[in-house]
Amino acid sequence: MVIFFIMDTLSNKPVGLFDSGVGGLTVAHAIKQILPDETLVYFGDTAHLPYGDKSEGAIISYSRKITGFLLDHGAKVILIACNSASASAYSVLKNEYGNKVLLLDVISPVIEYITTKNYSRVGVIGTKRTISSGTYEAGFSDRSPGTEIVSLATPLLVPMIEEGFIFDDISNAIIRTYLSDKKLEGIQSLVLGCTHYPLIRNQISKFYNFDVEVVDSARVVAMELRNKLEMEGLLNKGKKTDPDKFFVSDYTPYFEKIARMFFEGGDVNLTVADIWN
Ligand code: DGL
Repeated sequence: MVIFFIMDTLSNKPVGLFDSGVGGLTVAHAIKQILPDETLVYFGDTAHLPYGDKSEGAIISYSRKITGFLLDHGAKVILIACNSASASAYSVLKNEYGNKVLLLDVISPVIEYITTKNYSRVGVIGTKRTISSGTYEAGFSDRSPGTEIVSLATPLLVPMIEEGFIFDDISNAIIRTYLSDKKLEGIQSLVLGCTHYPLIRNQISKFYNFDVEVVDSARVVAMELRNKLEMEGLLNKGKKTDPDKFFVSDYTPYFEKIARMFFEGGDVNLTVADIWN
C-alpha cells in the first residue's frame, strides 16, 4: 500500500532532461508527442555551449551539477539529451546517481535501433567530443560486430544551428562539404549523433536524395523513455497539470525562438538559472 502510494506520487513528477542548448529540445518535442501527459523540466547549458569542444572532465562536471539541479526540481528520471554529455558523463552519472534515479542516455537506444536493421555500413556524424570518444564504435562492436561504422566530426554544425543558419546557402554549403567526405561513401544509414542535427535533417536527407536512412535520436529515445517509465511504474497515469519548465544558464533569444517553434501554442516558461555561481 505504502509502495503504491510512493510510486503514484513519483509518477506525477517531471521528466528532467538537459543539453548544452537547443539540441535537447528535439528530444523534448518527441517526448511531448509520445508522452503528452508527462511534465518536462529542461536545462539548456547555454553558458557552456558548445559541449563538443570541451574536455571530458569539464562535461562531467557540468552534467553533475545539472543533474543535481534537475533532482532539486523533483525529476523522476534524468535524460541526458546530448550525445557529447552521454559519451562523456553517462557512466559517471550512472555510478553516482544510478541508485537514486532512473538515468537514460541518447546513444544506447540508437545503437539498439540500428542493430535491428542489418546494415553493413553505417555513418555517424557528431561533435568532436562524441566522435573522439569512440562511444558509437564501441557500442556497435558489442551489439552488431558485422556492421562497419565510419564516423566523422562535424564541429561547425552546432554553432551554425545555434546561430540560426538552418535552411539557407550557408548551411547548405557546410552540410554538403561535410557529407561529401570520402569516409561517408557507400553508407546505407547516417546516424545524427548530436541532438542539434534533427533541425537540419531535411537538408541532410536531401543531400542523399532520400536514399540513405537518416536516423536521429529524438523519436527512438522518446520511445525508450516510454518503455523504461512503464517498466518502472513511473508513467504519469493522470492528466498533465503542471506547466513544462525550461531553464538556461545564459539567456539567448535563439533558444527562446526555437523553444516557441517546437512548443507552438504551449507555454514556454523560460527562466535563466545561473547554477554556476
Ligand atoms: N546537442 C549536443 C550533442 O548532442 C550538443 C553539442 C554541443 O554543444 O557541441 O552532442
